[in-house]
Amino acid sequence: MGTDRLHHLDAGIGSRLPRGSTPILDRLLATGPPLELTDWSLAPAALELVLARIGPDVAEIVECGSGASTIAIARLLAARGHGRLHSLEHDRGWARETRHRLAAEGIAGSARVLEAPLRPHPLAEPGYEWYDRRALAELPRRIDLLLVDGPPAGEPALERARYPALPVLAARLRRGATVILDDAGRAGEAWVLDRWRRAGIGFDCRASDPVAIGCMFPPTARGGSGRLDTERKE
Ligand SMILES: C[S@@+](CC[C@H](N)C(=O)[O-])C[C@H]1O[C@@H](n2cnc3c(N)ncnc32)[C@H](O)[C@@H]1O
Repeated sequence: MGTDRLHHLDAGIGSRLPRGSTPILDRLLATGPPLELTDWSLAPAALELVLARIGPDVAEIVECGSGASTIAIARLLAARGHGRLHSLEHDRGWARETRHRLAAEGIAGSARVLEAPLRPHPLAEPGYEWYDRRALAELPRRIDLLLVDGPPAGEPALERARYPALPVLAARLRRGATVILDDAGRAGEAWVLDRWRRAGIGFDCRASDPVAIGCMFPPTARGGSGRLDTERKE
Protein backbone atom coordinates (compact mmCIF):
# COMPACT_ATOMS: atom_id res chain seq x y z
CA MET A 1 0.00 0.00 0.00
CA GLY A 2 1.25 3.48 -0.70
CA THR A 3 0.31 6.96 0.32
CA ASP A 4 -0.88 7.76 -3.18
CA ARG A 5 -4.16 6.31 -1.94
CA LEU A 6 -4.94 9.42 0.08
CA HIS A 7 -7.68 11.26 -1.72
CA HIS A 8 -9.37 14.51 -0.95
CA LEU A 9 -12.70 13.89 0.71
CA ASP A 10 -13.69 17.27 2.01
CA ALA A 11 -12.32 20.34 3.67
CA GLY A 12 -12.79 21.19 7.30
CA ILE A 13 -15.12 23.80 8.64
CA GLY A 14 -14.49 26.72 10.92
CA SER A 15 -14.58 26.52 14.68
CA ARG A 16 -17.08 29.38 15.09
CA LEU A 17 -20.25 27.41 14.60
CA PRO A 18 -23.74 28.27 15.69
CA ARG A 19 -25.02 26.86 18.94
CA GLY A 20 -26.23 23.28 18.59
CA SER A 21 -23.97 22.53 15.66
CA THR A 22 -21.84 20.03 17.57
CA PRO A 23 -24.53 17.48 18.44
CA ILE A 24 -22.27 14.45 18.84
CA LEU A 25 -19.86 16.30 21.10
CA ASP A 26 -22.73 17.80 23.09
CA ARG A 27 -24.13 14.32 23.74
CA LEU A 28 -20.75 13.02 24.84
CA LEU A 29 -20.14 15.99 27.10
CA ALA A 30 -23.30 15.06 28.95
CA THR A 31 -22.16 11.50 29.62
CA GLY A 32 -19.23 12.13 31.95
CA PRO A 33 -17.37 14.61 34.08
CA PRO A 34 -16.71 18.03 32.56
CA LEU A 35 -14.37 17.81 29.64
CA GLU A 36 -12.05 20.77 29.60
CA LEU A 37 -11.29 22.00 26.10
CA THR A 38 -8.23 24.22 26.26
CA ASP A 39 -6.09 25.99 23.69
CA TRP A 40 -4.24 22.71 23.38
CA SER A 41 -7.35 20.79 22.47
CA LEU A 42 -9.05 20.30 19.16
CA ALA A 43 -11.60 23.08 18.72
CA PRO A 44 -15.18 21.88 19.30
CA ALA A 45 -16.00 22.10 15.60
CA ALA A 46 -12.90 20.11 14.75
CA LEU A 47 -13.68 17.51 17.38
CA GLU A 48 -17.22 17.22 16.06
CA LEU A 49 -15.82 16.52 12.59
CA VAL A 50 -13.58 13.80 13.99
CA LEU A 51 -16.42 12.21 15.96
CA ALA A 52 -18.68 12.32 12.91
CA ARG A 53 -16.10 10.30 10.99
CA ILE A 54 -16.20 7.46 13.49
CA GLY A 55 -18.81 5.39 11.71
CA PRO A 56 -19.71 1.77 12.40
CA ASP A 57 -16.90 0.58 10.13
CA VAL A 58 -14.25 2.46 12.12
CA ALA A 59 -12.73 0.16 14.71
CA GLU A 60 -9.04 1.02 15.00
CA ILE A 61 -8.21 4.67 15.53
CA VAL A 62 -4.75 6.14 15.95
CA GLU A 63 -4.24 9.59 17.40
CA CYS A 64 -1.01 11.59 17.56
CA GLY A 65 -1.24 13.82 20.63
CA SER A 66 -3.57 12.99 23.50
CA GLY A 67 -5.90 15.13 25.56
CA ALA A 68 -9.58 15.98 25.63
CA SER A 69 -9.94 14.40 22.20
CA THR A 70 -8.80 11.08 23.65
CA ILE A 71 -11.50 11.20 26.30
CA ALA A 72 -14.22 12.25 23.87
CA ILE A 73 -13.36 9.55 21.34
CA ALA A 74 -13.13 6.92 24.08
CA ARG A 75 -16.54 7.94 25.39
CA LEU A 76 -18.02 7.49 21.94
CA LEU A 77 -16.37 4.09 21.43
CA ALA A 78 -17.37 2.90 24.89
CA ALA A 79 -20.95 4.00 24.36
CA ARG A 80 -21.33 2.11 21.12
CA GLY A 81 -19.46 -0.92 22.47
CA HIS A 82 -16.75 -1.47 19.92
CA GLY A 83 -13.56 0.06 18.57
CA ARG A 84 -10.35 1.17 20.20
CA LEU A 85 -8.26 4.32 20.21
CA HIS A 86 -4.46 4.16 20.35
CA SER A 87 -3.09 7.54 21.35
CA LEU A 88 0.59 8.39 20.96
CA GLU A 89 1.78 10.78 23.65
CA HIS A 90 5.33 12.08 24.01
CA ASP A 91 4.90 13.65 27.43
CA ARG A 92 5.07 11.10 30.24
CA GLY A 93 3.16 13.24 32.74
CA TRP A 94 0.44 14.06 30.25
CA ALA A 95 0.14 10.41 29.25
CA ARG A 96 -0.33 9.51 32.91
CA GLU A 97 -2.92 12.25 33.35
CA THR A 98 -4.94 11.13 30.33
CA ARG A 99 -4.78 7.48 31.43
CA HIS A 100 -5.97 8.51 34.86
CA ARG A 101 -8.95 10.33 33.38
CA LEU A 102 -9.84 7.35 31.20
CA ALA A 103 -9.69 5.01 34.17
CA ALA A 104 -11.70 7.37 36.38
CA GLU A 105 -14.49 7.34 33.82
CA GLY A 106 -14.32 3.58 33.36
CA ILE A 107 -13.53 3.89 29.66
CA ALA A 108 -9.90 2.74 29.66
CA GLY A 109 -10.94 -0.33 27.70
CA SER A 110 -11.76 1.90 24.74
CA ALA A 111 -8.54 3.90 24.60
CA ARG A 112 -4.95 3.39 25.53
CA VAL A 113 -2.29 6.05 25.74
CA LEU A 114 1.04 4.88 24.39
CA GLU A 115 3.93 6.77 25.85
CA ALA A 116 6.21 7.60 22.93
CA PRO A 117 9.06 10.03 23.63
CA LEU A 118 10.15 12.17 20.73
CA ARG A 119 13.31 10.83 19.10
CA PRO A 120 15.23 11.44 15.90
CA HIS A 121 13.38 9.76 13.07
CA PRO A 122 14.59 9.09 9.52
CA LEU A 123 11.45 10.58 8.01
CA ALA A 124 11.46 13.72 10.15
CA GLU A 125 12.78 16.96 8.75
CA PRO A 126 16.35 17.86 9.74
CA GLY A 127 16.42 18.90 13.38
CA TYR A 128 12.99 17.46 14.07
CA GLU A 129 11.94 14.42 16.05
CA TRP A 130 8.94 12.14 15.99
CA TYR A 131 7.43 9.46 18.20
CA ASP A 132 9.68 6.64 19.37
CA ARG A 133 9.45 3.70 17.00
CA ARG A 134 9.16 1.25 19.88
CA ALA A 135 5.71 2.64 20.66
CA LEU A 136 4.73 2.37 17.00
CA ALA A 137 5.16 -1.38 17.25
CA GLU A 138 2.12 -1.34 19.56
CA LEU A 139 -0.15 0.16 16.93
CA PRO A 140 -2.63 -1.96 14.98
CA ARG A 141 -1.59 -3.25 11.58
CA ARG A 142 -4.79 -1.94 10.05
CA ILE A 143 -5.90 1.58 10.90
CA ASP A 144 -9.35 2.94 10.05
CA LEU A 145 -8.86 6.53 11.13
CA LEU A 146 -5.72 8.59 11.79
CA LEU A 147 -5.95 11.87 13.71
CA VAL A 148 -2.80 13.99 13.56
CA ASP A 149 -2.77 16.55 16.41
CA GLY A 150 0.77 16.06 17.69
CA PRO A 151 3.61 16.39 18.34
CA PRO A 152 3.27 20.06 19.37
CA ALA A 153 3.84 22.25 16.32
CA GLY A 154 2.58 25.66 17.39
CA GLU A 155 5.94 27.42 17.41
CA PRO A 156 7.93 28.32 14.29
CA ALA A 157 10.80 26.05 15.31
CA LEU A 158 8.37 23.10 15.56
CA GLU A 159 6.09 23.78 12.64
CA ARG A 160 7.13 20.79 10.52
CA ALA A 161 6.84 18.34 13.40
CA ARG A 162 3.76 16.54 12.09
CA TYR A 163 5.07 15.64 8.67
CA PRO A 164 6.13 12.02 9.44
CA ALA A 165 2.65 10.89 10.55
CA LEU A 166 1.37 10.00 7.13
CA PRO A 167 4.52 8.51 5.56
CA VAL A 168 5.19 6.46 8.67
CA LEU A 169 1.67 5.11 9.03
CA ALA A 170 0.47 4.99 5.41
CA ALA A 171 1.18 1.31 5.00
CA ARG A 172 -1.20 0.55 7.88
CA LEU A 173 -4.08 2.72 6.69
CA ARG A 174 -6.81 0.59 5.23
CA ARG A 175 -8.51 1.37 1.96
CA GLY A 176 -10.98 4.15 2.67
CA ALA A 177 -9.33 5.15 5.93
CA THR A 178 -9.83 8.71 7.08
CA VAL A 179 -6.85 10.96 7.81
CA ILE A 180 -7.40 14.19 9.72
CA LEU A 181 -4.79 16.89 10.26
CA ASP A 182 -5.63 19.58 12.79
CA ASP A 183 -4.52 23.21 12.58
CA ALA A 184 -4.52 23.00 8.80
CA GLY A 185 -4.67 26.77 8.49
CA ARG A 186 -1.26 27.28 10.10
CA ALA A 187 1.85 27.81 8.01
CA GLY A 188 3.54 24.66 9.27
CA GLU A 189 0.57 22.40 8.64
CA ALA A 190 0.10 24.02 5.23
CA TRP A 191 3.69 23.03 4.51
CA VAL A 192 2.98 19.48 5.71
CA LEU A 193 -0.11 19.24 3.52
CA ASP A 194 1.82 20.58 0.57
CA ARG A 195 4.57 18.00 1.09
CA TRP A 196 1.99 15.24 1.32
CA ARG A 197 0.31 16.61 -1.80
CA ARG A 198 3.54 16.96 -3.77
CA ALA A 199 4.38 13.41 -2.85
CA GLY A 200 1.39 12.35 -4.92
CA ILE A 201 -1.27 12.56 -2.27
CA GLY A 202 -4.51 14.23 -3.21
CA PHE A 203 -5.08 15.91 0.10
CA ASP A 204 -6.91 19.13 -0.53
CA CYS A 205 -8.08 21.81 1.86
CA ARG A 206 -8.50 25.54 2.08
CA ALA A 207 -5.67 27.32 3.85
CA SER A 208 -7.99 28.89 6.42
CA ASP A 209 -9.58 25.65 7.52
CA PRO A 210 -8.62 24.37 10.96
CA VAL A 211 -8.93 20.75 9.93
CA ALA A 212 -8.06 18.89 6.75
CA ILE A 213 -9.76 15.60 6.08
CA GLY A 214 -8.62 13.07 3.53
CA CYS A 215 -9.57 9.56 2.60
CA MET A 216 -7.32 6.74 1.50
CA PHE A 217 -8.59 5.04 -1.61
CA PRO A 218 -7.38 2.09 -3.64
CA PRO A 219 -4.04 2.56 -5.39
CA THR A 220 -5.44 1.62 -8.76
CA ALA A 221 -8.24 4.17 -8.58
CA ARG A 222 -5.91 7.13 -8.76
CA GLY A 223 -2.96 5.92 -10.67
CA GLY A 224 -0.45 7.26 -8.16
CA SER A 225 1.52 10.06 -9.75
CA GLY A 226 4.02 10.36 -6.97
CA ARG A 227 5.63 8.55 -4.13
CA LEU A 228 6.24 9.23 -0.53
CA ASP A 229 9.16 7.80 1.38
CA THR A 230 7.40 5.46 3.74
CA GLU A 231 8.44 3.46 6.72
CA ARG A 232 8.60 0.31 4.62
CA LYS A 233 11.30 1.72 2.37
CA GLU A 234 13.82 2.43 5.10
C1 LIG B 1 -2.28 19.79 20.24
S1 LIG B 1 -2.03 18.94 21.73
C2 LIG B 1 -3.04 17.52 21.53
C3 LIG B 1 -4.41 17.80 21.97
C4 LIG B 1 -5.39 16.66 21.93
N1 LIG B 1 -5.47 15.99 20.66
C5 LIG B 1 -6.75 17.24 22.28
O1 LIG B 1 -7.57 17.47 21.40
O2 LIG B 1 -6.95 17.48 23.46
C6 LIG B 1 -0.39 18.31 21.52
C7 LIG B 1 0.30 17.96 22.82
O3 LIG B 1 0.12 18.99 23.76
C8 LIG B 1 0.13 18.44 25.07
N2 LIG B 1 -1.11 18.84 25.76
C9 LIG B 1 -2.36 18.55 25.37
N3 LIG B 1 -3.25 19.13 26.21
C10 LIG B 1 -2.54 19.80 27.12
C11 LIG B 1 -2.88 20.60 28.23
N4 LIG B 1 -4.16 20.84 28.57
N5 LIG B 1 -1.89 21.13 28.96
C12 LIG B 1 -0.61 20.90 28.63
N6 LIG B 1 -0.21 20.14 27.57
C13 LIG B 1 -1.16 19.59 26.83
C14 LIG B 1 0.26 16.94 24.94
O4 LIG B 1 1.62 16.58 25.11
C15 LIG B 1 -0.19 16.72 23.50
O5 LIG B 1 0.40 15.57 22.94
